[in-house]
Amino acid sequence: MGEILSPKVILITGSSSGFGYLTAIRLAEAGHIVYATMRDPAKGEALLEEADRRGCAKRLHVWQLDVTKPETIKAAVRSIVAADGVIDVLVNNAGFGIGGFFEDLSPEDFQQQFDVNFFGVLNVTREVLPVMRPRRKGKIINVSSMAAYAGTPCFSAYCSSKWALEGFSECLYMELQPFGIDVALVEPGSYRTKIFEENARVARRFDNHESPYYGLSQRFRKDVLRHIRHNDRDPDEVARVIERIIVQSGPAFRHVVGWRQKFRAFCLRVRLCPFKLYAELVNMALTSPSE
Ligand SMILES: NC(=O)c1ccc[n+]([C@@H]2O[C@H](COP(=O)([O-])OP(=O)(O)OC[C@H]3O[C@@H](n4cnc5c(N)ncnc54)[C@H](OP(=O)(O)O)[C@@H]3O)[C@@H](O)[C@H]2O)c1
Repeated sequence: MGEILSPKVILITGSSSGFGYLTAIRLAEAGHIVYATMRDPAKGEALLEEADRRGCAKRLHVWQLDVTKPETIKAAVRSIVAADGVIDVLVNNAGFGIGGFFEDLSPEDFQQQFDVNFFGVLNVTREVLPVMRPRRKGKIINVSSMAAYAGTPCFSAYCSSKWALEGFSECLYMELQPFGIDVALVEPGSYRTKIFEENARVARRFDNHESPYYGLSQRFRKDVLRHIRHNDRDPDEVARVIERIIVQSGPAFRHVVGWRQKFRAFCLRVRLCPFKLYAELVNMALTSPSE
């Protein structure tokens, strides 16, 4: 692949691994100009080498951006505009997940979760909109999660950060419609990226033997790790969905990834599975004898 008719200038957050990494490489290979941003650009080496191998290194730029640090966002946006004059697409992808029952999570744990997954999106969007709006075109793609469809014990901070992101995105969609800017949500199920392993975080009291949740927390971690290590779904599916949104005109607002998750989303959204039944099933799974 190489030059395309209308390459887009694309800013992606959290590109050092996982969906951000895969999306950056896929879009650069497809001919777009990609600003793959990350907190620590030294982590971009593998991405640049891969881009080189695929012959798209000249279209892929690794720049520093921490979604919790407005000065790094301003600097990145300013430099992209100086280099390319526009930002056509913003992919708000950066995020992490903190595990822990509510009473084990400190206020700081909860705050940090929202600082990245929710306020981080607001911070970047705030800087990019003044570049997009006057042109009356652009796309903002927010990476949410199936966790925004239904809660899970031990994940209240993560789930609520994604529910907040969904509410914000719905409002933003309507606010930006008159300006010709599309807002879309991508809602992946679980994929084996660094989010569950190297980048996983747990509540301050997660491993405290005195916590009344200690046994359940340990059980939860074991179950999640077992589930994720047997998870062979290809995370590039998510990158493909993001690419499709970018090339489509008037894309749908919500994008659940894969037919299994589409079915699950359907059941949860239309309440084919009532909340109390869902909660009972989840709690049964968490407390049933471990394999
Ligand atoms: N994997 C899944 O099963 C799954 C499912 C649904 C939704 N998601 C969502 O998908 C997105 C990407 O996650 P992933 O699965 O690809 O996980 P990942 O491999 O851990 O990637 C997360 C990325 O976010 C970056 N990040 C964290 N804090 C940041 C900050 N303050 N500023 C900028 N970047 C930051 C990380 O950078 P560092 O290297 O600097 O830490 C990393 O590049 C997240 O929003 C996540 O919630 C994931």
